Amino acid sequence: MPAKNMDEIVALCKRRGFIFQSSEIYGGLQGTYDFGPLGVELKNNLKNAWWEAMVYENDNIEGLDSSILTNPLVLKYSGHEETFSDPMVDCKSCNLRFREDQVPDHCKKEDLTEPRQFNLMFKTSVGPLEDGSNYAYLRPETAQQIFTNFKNVLDSTSKPIPFGIAQIGKAFRNEITPRNFIFRVREFEQMELEYFVMPGEDEDAHESWVQKRLDWWSNQGVPIKSIELYDVPTDELAHYSKKTVDLMYKFPHGLEELEGIANRTDFDLGSHSKKQDELKISSNVKKNKHSNSKMAVKNDSGDWIVPYVIEPSAGVERGFLAILNEAYTNEELEGGKNRIVLRLKPHLSPVKAAVIPLKKNNKDIVNTAKEIKDDLQKIGLGRIILENTGNIGKSYRKHDEIGTPLCITVDFDTLNDNSVTLRDRDSMNQTRLQVKELAMYIKDLIKK
Ligand code: GLY
Repeated sequence: MPAKNMDEIVALCKRRGFIFQSSEIYGGLQGTYDFGPLGVELKNNLKNAWWEAMVYENDNIEGLDSSILTNPLVLKYSGHEETFSDPMVDCKSCNLRFREDQVPDHCKKEDLTEPRQFNLMFKTSVGPLEDGSNYAYLRPETAQQIFTNFKNVLDSTSKPIPFGIAQIGKAFRNEITPRNFIFRVREFEQMELEYFVMPGEDEDAHESWVQKRLDWWSNQGVPIKSIELYDVPTDELAHYSKKTVDLMYKFPHGLEELEGIANRTDFDLGSHSKKQDELKISSNVKKNKHSNSKMAVKNDSGDWIVPYVIEPSAGVERGFLAILNEAYTNEELEGGKNRIVLRLKPHLSPVKAAVIPLKKNNKDIVNTAKEIKDDLQKIGLGRIILENTGNIGKSYRKHDEIGTPLCITVDFDTLNDNSVTLRDRDSMNQTRLQVKELAMYIKDLIKK
């Protein structure tokens, strides 16, 4: 019996320490969440899986970690100052403000004001003067600083086109109505790849990235059958996009975007290049006919070309929610009992294995369990914990709920024959294994 109910997922997240409301003790801050002890592990595992699939598995993709505070000129010439806005309406009856497409049923049409455009970027003052003259934006997407660093990365890595720059990091949007738990929030993380190709190669590259991204989500436990492709109609496209395919996932609150894969053409590099030309920053290349651009590459004929870019852009929190939703299972057991189990892919599990001493106060058993934990931890397979509650049943229930793929019980026999009991999360089967074989066993489990 799958849960597929946001309330159950929210309750589990709070109960087990995945996600808390931010600034909770002061009443919270709308559209912000804190990731607790297990949430941070799952989130890091998800980001690492993306990083490995992008940067480590592709020799033509490099990583970047750019600043969040962004020079306003970047976002002026990217088009965000002018167009990164949502239509907002006020309800004269309840005095609340909504995004035009998210007005709740209880507001009457005649009570709504005409829509006004509301820019979603957060502005902050930089330095000690607060007269409005020195300000920066908190980046609304990680992508822009990938574009502004295009030449830096190209020059320092000597990559030929096609090549990509990957970045994971925070982005901020002053959403008019944050909602649906961590789905629509004001502070979030993105995993973005900007994959630069020659014009004319963009459409094939776009198709190929859609397929690669579906395969990747499937490896994270969000199967292709749970995702619908949405070819974004022209009138809904972002200002920079020629074509966008959204991967739509059936979240507990409805079918919504998990990731967008856009063909941004040469819009961004072209726009920043044009500005660089105007500023005449690029004195070393401006003699060449087409070369007075810092954001171009030479093609085989020696002409300067501004590359096109394909952008798979995924939200970490949305991925987190989809993964939890897929993994959450409320299972009926024999005898009318039930158990909640998170069937996470082991590489994403916050805890890889729990080592459980059978007797809480037996020094020999507890010390042996500690040694096993410490040895397994050193191998670097992720978090291993010692679970010394003295209640095996309770420990199993806890680790089912947080998605720990393996429980390792240390008992009296362990002291004699160096074997432990393994209990598998999904099948609940129990087997005996030699302690020296544990590391390989867990390694295989995580790689599956
Ligand atoms: N970079 C695409 C987005 O933030 O939506």
